[in-house]
Amino acid sequence: MRRIYLDNAATTPVDPDVLRAMTLYFSENYGNASSLHREGQDARRAIEDSRRIIAKFLGCKPEEIVFTGSGTESNNAVLKGLAFSELGKKKNHIIATTIEHHAILEPCEFLEKQGFKTTILKVDSNGLIDLKELDRNITDQTLLVSIMHGNNEIGTLQNIEEIGRICKKKNTLFHTDAVQTFGKYDINVKKMNLDFLTASAHKIYGPKGVGLLYIKQDLKNKIEPLLHGGGHEFGLRSSTENVAGIVGFAKAVSICEKRMRNDAESIKKLRDKLIGGILKIEKSRLNGHPTLRLYNNANFSFQGIEGESLIMHLDMAGIAASTGSACSTKDLRPSHVLTAIGLDHVTAHGSLRLTLGRSTTQDDIDYAIKTVDDIAKNLRKISPFK
Ligand SMILES: Cc1ncc(COP(=O)(O)O)c(C=O)c1O
Repeated sequence: MRRIYLDNAATTPVDPDVLRAMTLYFSENYGNASSLHREGQDARRAIEDSRRIIAKFLGCKPEEIVFTGSGTESNNAVLKGLAFSELGKKKNHIIATTIEHHAILEPCEFLEKQGFKTTILKVDSNGLIDLKELDRNITDQTLLVSIMHGNNEIGTLQNIEEIGRICKKKNTLFHTDAVQTFGKYDINVKKMNLDFLTASAHKIYGPKGVGLLYIKQDLKNKIEPLLHGGGHEFGLRSSTENVAGIVGFAKAVSICEKRMRNDAESIKKLRDKLIGGILKIEKSRLNGHPTLRLYNNANFSFQGIEGESLIMHLDMAGIAASTGSACSTKDLRPSHVLTAIGLDHVTAHGSLRLTLGRSTTQDDIDYAIKTVDDIAKNLRKISPFK
């Protein structure tokens, strides 16, 4: 049976050109980048070339890119790393938002237990933070503001440039989790006044298990490493480098750079058709901002329908979809993002996230709309929520 993959926010397939670029570093060029011989130096060159490609893409210096094992690791590295190096000093306050990924919220909870104070800013019904509230909450104790760029569940895009301006004015450090926007939108870390940025390769047709943390040059000595050891990645992330993964990440970025405008236009057009079609279904609503949202994201709630059942029936009909974040699919509590935008528990349980990618076609969208409609009708007949 034909499969339609509408879960590109969870992960994307590795681009064939990325895979080709990586293969060489599993086979012929297997050297350890720390070795002095030719095999090692070939690996080192591949890593540094990759670093340059990605740095150019972000508008920063190559030395400001630290390769990590994931977006989760980068988020942990910046929050805990900064907090540990500031331990016992003046600044002990961190600001985040209610709709951050668990890889931000959990480190915040952990740091609270270590004596740090956190302010978790609320968002409005579209998922946007109040910039004035952010401004008001920054004090001279504030060590870091960490606010995501694009939300992985509802797609809402925050005004990162303005947040950057506020943090600069208030002399506070600013980190953004850009896992869902990196490679999809123009991001220039200098123009956006970013001190730290997190990205992950597997969301942009690169391999799983590779991430990066942009750290502004003069702040590198303010981050206590999570991993101590051989001093790799400027002493900030000891571990023998994942050469093939890093090469794949850079290749994925080069492809994004070339395709960025086309992808954005064509995927948005299909996504808008999807939203239009699904909203014709009885008692459906769109979650997240109507316009300030990731161009590949659609998130709906259906009254009287249980999201998990919808996903299972869609899967049987050949469609891969999700109720929200892939990381919390085993968690039966409603999504913290949907409750943060004010959805009651029943409505939040009836959610469906469809995220498009490069391979999505008009036929896929037509089929998805019709299938969701059919399944919703059938599920409503047997729903205990009626
Ligand atoms: C916004 C956001 N942050 C962080 C992560 C974690 O990234 P990784 O899967 O590379 O650990 C994800 C993954 O879904 C995400 O969507």
